[in-house]
Amino acid sequence: MSVLPIRVLGDPVLREETRLVDTFAPELQQLIDDMFETMTAAHGVGLAAPQVGRTERLTVMDVHGERFVLINPEIVEHEGTIKWEEGCLSIPELYGDVTRSARVVVEALDREGKTFQVVGTELLGVCLQHEIDHLHGKLFIDHLSFLKRQKLLAEWEDEKPKYPGLIRIVVAGEDEDEAHDDEKL
Ligand code: NI
Repeated sequence: MSVLPIRVLGDPVLREETRLVDTFAPELQQLIDDMFETMTAAHGVGLAAPQVGRTERLTVMDVHGERFVLINPEIVEHEGTIKWEEGCLSIPELYGDVTRSARVVVEALDREGKTFQVVGTELLGVCLQHEIDHLHGKLFIDHLSFLKRQKLLAEWEDEKPKYPGLIRIVVAGEDEDEAHDDEKL
């Protein structure tokens, strides 16, 4: 397994639509394992394929120790609203309150290609919606009001030079900011 470089805000791959996965070959299994290792090293709750420069419709999540692999996920039910402070491994150090559905039901394939459903509320529900957004080129900042987004983008201009080539190298064992460990989606 290896820790992959994470693409940060400004890399066009984060804005690309992903493609449906239809093979479950060893290469995909390797990518899944590498994504888990990368997410863990970065202390993330979720990581979507575009964040490591890939175009497969695939995301991995670890919500309070429960791990999920979601391939070709779709929200099939949603209800209510919830406001949650979100961050993103591709927009390090910056956080914003996002309003999303309070409860979602997601249908996806697991790493063997078998269909399953997951029901999510609170962090799990928020993470599911955040990661599925990634698979359609959408970021949490897109949900903010114009003024809040402008403020965050201005802050990002100060952060961006830390990531030459819009690439973030994470090192397992290093952590800068444990206080936000439940918000790095
Ligand atoms: Ni994210």
